Amino acid sequence: MPKPRPLLLLLLRLLIASCIANAGAGAAADLPLPEDTQAPPPSFPGEWQLLHASTGVSAMHMQLLPGDFVLMFDRTDTGPSNISLAAPSPCAAATADGAAADCTAHSVLLDLRSNVLHPYPIATNPWCSSGALLPNGTLLQTGGFSNGDRVARLFSPATGWVELPSFLAARRWYASDMILPDGRVLILGGRRQFNFEYFPHDAAAAAPALTFFPFLDETSDPDAENNLYPFLHLLPDGTVFVFANDRAVVFDPYNRAPLRRLPAVPGGVPRNYPSSGSSVLLPLRPDSPTHAEVLVCGGAPRGAYHLALRNNTFLPADRTCARVAPTDPDPVWAVEEMPVGRVMGDMVLLPTGDVLIVNGAANGTAGWELGREPVTVPVLYKPDAQLGDRFEALAASAIPRMYHSSATLDTYGRVLVGGSNPHVGYVFANTTYPTELSLEAFLPPYMDPRLDGARPRLLAAPAEVGYGEATAVRFALPVRTGENGDTAAEGSAALGEVRVAAVAPAFATHSFGMNQRVVDLGVGRVARVDVGVYEAEVAAPPTPGIAPPGYYLWFVVHAGVPSSAAWVRMRPLGPAT
Ligand SMILES: *[C@@H]1O[C@H](CO)[C@@H](O)[C@H](O)[C@H]1NC(C)=O
Ligand SMILES: *[C@@H]1O[C@H](CO)[C@@H](O)[C@H](O)[C@H]1NC(C)=O
Ligand SMILES: *[C@@H]1O[C@H](CO)[C@@H](O)[C@H](O)[C@H]1NC(C)=O
Ligand SMILES: *[C@@H]1O[C@H](CO)[C@@H](O)[C@H](O)[C@H]1NC(C)=O
Ligand SMILES: *[C@@H]1O[C@H](CO)[C@@H](O)[C@H](O)[C@H]1NC(C)=O
Repeated sequence: MPKPRPLLLLLLRLLIASCIANAGAGAAADLPLPEDTQAPPPSFPGEWQLLHASTGVSAMHMQLLPGDFVLMFDRTDTGPSNISLAAPSPCAAATADGAAADCTAHSVLLDLRSNVLHPYPIATNPWCSSGALLPNGTLLQTGGFSNGDRVARLFSPATGWVELPSFLAARRWYASDMILPDGRVLILGGRRQFNFEYFPHDAAAAAPALTFFPFLDETSDPDAENNLYPFLHLLPDGTVFVFANDRAVVFDPYNRAPLRRLPAVPGGVPRNYPSSGSSVLLPLRPDSPTHAEVLVCGGAPRGAYHLALRNNTFLPADRTCARVAPTDPDPVWAVEEMPVGRVMGDMVLLPTGDVLIVNGAANGTAGWELGREPVTVPVLYKPDAQLGDRFEALAASAIPRMYHSSATLDTYGRVLVGGSNPHVGYVFANTTYPTELSLEAFLPPYMDPRLDGARPRLLAAPAEVGYGEATAVRFALPVRTGENGDTAAEGSAALGEVRVAAVAPAFATHSFGMNQRVVDLGVGRVARVDVGVYEAEVAAPPTPGIAPPGYYLWFVVHAGVPSSAAWVRMRPLGPAT
């Protein structure tokens, strides 16, 4: 029998409670619930809200930063954007490309608390680049195009962009970054780069600047690639899962050695740029600390890129998701079907452990003008539901999000959705999919106002924790007044299942959320400390392989309904700082 979903049960309970209230004094208090005849309440399909009609810059890259800022940036060689740099305008910096004077901004920071946008100058071109939030909360961004392809950059709201010219040992364009357990960043791949390197540089003088990674050579399709922006996931034992094209390997980033090769996904569909699918590491659970599962969804059939580019033929996108436990001794891919095919989708991990698949198209591939038939319906994937019952189609957006769109979870549990620009420059008229400057928030089903009665409010969480430390979070549940106005009446807000999820914010671009991660924390005793106020004992993640150091969003999830999050820093191993 499928496990009953707490969300649904809760809805039922709330509905019944309101029925009882409406039935008046004569109603029996213990209304029997005819399980089989009770129609499930219509579920909330989510809701779209427009945060900004124009952020001025199309959000090709997006990163949520501690302090509730969202950095969005594009290329510097598009021509003018729709937002000016603040005076005194450093136009000269923007012309380092040799382009005509451009006094517009190509990066903006959104303050989520005030919804105010701040333009930031960026000196060199970060087009199609990669990034990772460092353990100190500064963003590391690597590579780009032309004058930016060997630049590493640091960004924080206080400093703006700080360039490290020629930091990279190789050009990085369409590479992927991943934070390692020791806080270093692995920078892997990119166009014609079958190698990787690290930030910061290896201190050992004898260490090579670049390490050859033959898997990227072998997975590069002639003339189409289909292995750019490889999907990187850190496994609990500190090894790295790399997916490119239609297959995966696991390697050890410390001795730089390949460890094992997984079987190819049945079907042979390429799933990396330009056949862009997407991928997430499914939530890690405290009761099985050595187990991890990866999900890869969508893509475009082999040959789709050339047919779109040269023959004006837009093949239907792939409809499958493939799921594997790379930590198993003999990993086997399990293939499932999405309700719709999708290329250029974004997969966003939610604090509930579900996965939102959003954005993209039903035909064609990534690349200039090569996508058709926008898929505006987000789909929820429920990893714990029974096979065949895992996908749920949600409310459609009014705005197509094609090539160069992005999506990320925010502090409030919303999914921010922006970008879409399949054109070489900014094109707003006489085109199928105009350059999108808007930023939307998608409210997932758990934001159903009918669930407000169970919605926890996070009152206190630690600012920083060490590995394996015992800590606690405090939260409030709405108190419903009992029949005699007695607030302590135990009929109010019966305590449901309490989970605490630590979510690492992603660097989102080109259908992949780099470093995106949900780590479920071990929850011990949940004590009632006051009317409607609870304290839950929580165990911090045990190792940096499970949760690499840095900033996480901690959400309390009560009966399937998440709170807003608090930022909690996972302190790096080593001497306390
Ligand atoms: C951006 O600016 C261009 C040129 O001024 C204008 O045509 C276009 O409507 C603007 N787009 C948005 C979404 O503000
Ligand atoms: C964060 O770490 C990076 C890399 O070590 C360093 O360059 C940067 O200055 C640090 N930022 C802060 C605010 O300490
Ligand atoms: C290429 O385009 C032509 C004309 O539009 C079409 O007839 C043909 O089927 C296409 N080729 C493929 C392999 O789809
Ligand atoms: C998308 O693919 C479907 C299925 O092959 C096809 O019927 C449809 O014409 C395609 N759409 C475009 C715009 O090519
Ligand atoms: C769009 O096309 C129409 C008709 O061809 C033309 O009159 C108009 O000037 C075009 N607008 C732009 C912004 O190119």
